[in-house]
Amino acid sequence: MKKEILVILILAGLGLFTPAMADDGYRLWLKYDQITDIAYLKECNKILSGVMITGDSPVISAAHDELIAGLAGMTGSQVTEVSSLKSSGTLVAGTFRSSPVVASLLPDVEPGTIGEEGYIIRSVTMGGKKITVIASEGDRGVLYGVFHLLRLVSMQSPLEDLSITEKPATVLRLLNHWDNLDRSVERGYAGESVWNWHLLPGYISPRYRDYARANASIGINGTVITNVNANALVLTPQYLVKVAALADVMRPYGIKVYLTARFSAPAETGGLATSDPLDPAVARWWKEKASEIYALIPDFGGFLVKANSEGQPGPQNYGRSHADGANMLADAVAPYGGVGMWRAFVYDNNIPVDRAKQAYNEFVPLDGSFRSNVLVQVKNGAVDFQPREPFHPLFGAMPSTPLMMEFQITQEYLGCSTHLVFLAPLFEECLTSDTHAAGPGSDVAKVIDGTLHGHSLTGMAGVANIGSERNWTGHLFGQANWYAFGRLAWQPSLSSATIASEWIRMTLTHDPEIADGISTMMLSSREAAVNYMTPLGLHHIMAEGHHWGPGPWVNRGRPDWTSVYYHRADTIGIGFNRTREGSDAVSQYFPPLNDIFNDPAECPENMLLWFHHVPWDHTMKSGRILWDEMCIRYQEGVNAAEVYGAYWETLNGRIDNAQYEHVRQLLKIQAREARWWKDACLLYFQTFSRRPFPAGVDKPENDLAYYRGLRFYYVPGI
Ligand code: GCU
Repeated sequence: MKKEILVILILAGLGLFTPAMADDGYRLWLKYDQITDIAYLKECNKILSGVMITGDSPVISAAHDELIAGLAGMTGSQVTEVSSLKSSGTLVAGTFRSSPVVASLLPDVEPGTIGEEGYIIRSVTMGGKKITVIASEGDRGVLYGVFHLLRLVSMQSPLEDLSITEKPATVLRLLNHWDNLDRSVERGYAGESVWNWHLLPGYISPRYRDYARANASIGINGTVITNVNANALVLTPQYLVKVAALADVMRPYGIKVYLTARFSAPAETGGLATSDPLDPAVARWWKEKASEIYALIPDFGGFLVKANSEGQPGPQNYGRSHADGANMLADAVAPYGGVGMWRAFVYDNNIPVDRAKQAYNEFVPLDGSFRSNVLVQVKNGAVDFQPREPFHPLFGAMPSTPLMMEFQITQEYLGCSTHLVFLAPLFEECLTSDTHAAGPGSDVAKVIDGTLHGHSLTGMAGVANIGSERNWTGHLFGQANWYAFGRLAWQPSLSSATIASEWIRMTLTHDPEIADGISTMMLSSREAAVNYMTPLGLHHIMAEGHHWGPGPWVNRGRPDWTSVYYHRADTIGIGFNRTREGSDAVSQYFPPLNDIFNDPAECPENMLLWFHHVPWDHTMKSGRILWDEMCIRYQEGVNAAEVYGAYWETLNGRIDNAQYEHVRQLLKIQAREARWWKDACLLYFQTFSRRPFPAGVDKPENDLAYYRGLRFYYVPGI
């Protein structure tokens, strides 16, 4: 062996020759890398020189371990644990109940004001000593407070004079995994399911704990681990012990496990002749099933159900209503404190009514007939997680029923895990939409947090984008969407900019200039995707089946699964007439929105073609005609995607190289696919508009026949 190589190997063996760290994304935003800013490190060491965390529950142990590991990583030195407040710079954490020290440091806090999950982080001075306190009424609040403090340190935020009070705005903050028992993930683009059903319960992957840590760090407190297109097998004893093993890992992180319930399970796996919810034997079967589950998982969260939608069985198979079905299941879990989440994503191609209207028509008459432990879970928009939809008209329209938000974190319609599309602006747009249900100021967020109609049972669900890929989400920036969901479920009023800034600083860089640049890219990325996919209120024009790529020409099969059903392009114009003269979907909104949406002059242009069939030569606010405007928007989307790629290349050598290279390659694909969307859609719509492309719009790279003829095999996520 050559001498130099030998030297290198020896040095490497001694750990003295370490190549630059390549970040594979596994650690998410919980990196805890050593602080390199010397001044900040000093501040940190001064203010957090010792730690005193009281309590011995599994949740407190998890908080303790996280705090010690996090601080040790970031300060680069061992953390001193103390048992009394001898010197300045101690961090004290615990509940008011378990820690007399905590209680004595915050004498002004009235019991019952913070709650079990809320917390206070405060800098106090006692006997001349400076102390930082993390206090809650419950262990979970201490855990969340610890994660908050670690976030501050990770972001290198000031630690002096802290005065933070946090309480979650919603009770249930859940991920919904569309994961199947064979480990495939419906609409999943990050590898196989994280749940290794075959090896459970014997083998507990370290990923489960890291999953729980990540979720707890952003306040997520529940996970529905199975697909809404449910498999009754998960309710069998063989699988329930596996579910119980997962629940055991989640519990110390304040996370409850929930399951999807296949409505036909009593007949399918239970040996009954029917699954009719009003049949006493069926109700009994579910009660016994609940008792079996709770014996294994005492804190089981409850059931999520997709019924009578897209081929799933449900109460309507037996002539019963959604309320009959939901109530029967809710009764089964009620004795144990469980909930039933019943999805409002229902539509039927045998009903000749605009699909966007069907859920409202079905559910509004049922308002007031659900049990108190039922939530109706409503997608953000009335069709299906499109790049842009107006908020779902059910929000505000069922005052007597808790409505739970369902967002989609996985990017089924937004470029899978290939495109950088930061979803916080989409979530924020929906949450800040004013439903006018109880007059102005009746934002969707107030429906969700229960304040509008006085509900205490509240929740937000996000369809997970997590899989077994090393970096969890496929695209590094998909992590930001998971992060954003959790932060918004905790606090729906957070701004997208705040969330982006937190995530960037914890995941990518502390350099303010780079952070600004990345933030600008993230914050504009959703609008860019809307532009290159579905500008001006277009929707549901993706390829059939896999939903990846454009397919505005799709016109076969179920009409409500085609594209032509939604865009309705003809030689006169384009768009779905949902006005009073059309499907009248506008009337499902409260005044004045019904009038605003009904009037093409008042309807926001970004939703124009959602509500109106508009002539190609209609003059838009820009002064251009509709056709030209549409072309320009598509082009702007492509331009933005290309700018992202060019900008990212300026970061070469300025951020971690593995992160850099991963995103660089994906941005290249994104730009190419943005152009594909533009070219395919514009060529297709041009066959109706019969107008040339305006100046500034690039000539398509291929003809329409080429795009229509593209076939893809084994696209993930189906
Ligand atoms: C979409 C998606 C399906 C999913 C469904 C749902 O239609 O394409 O895969 O099952 O939503 O939310 O139930």
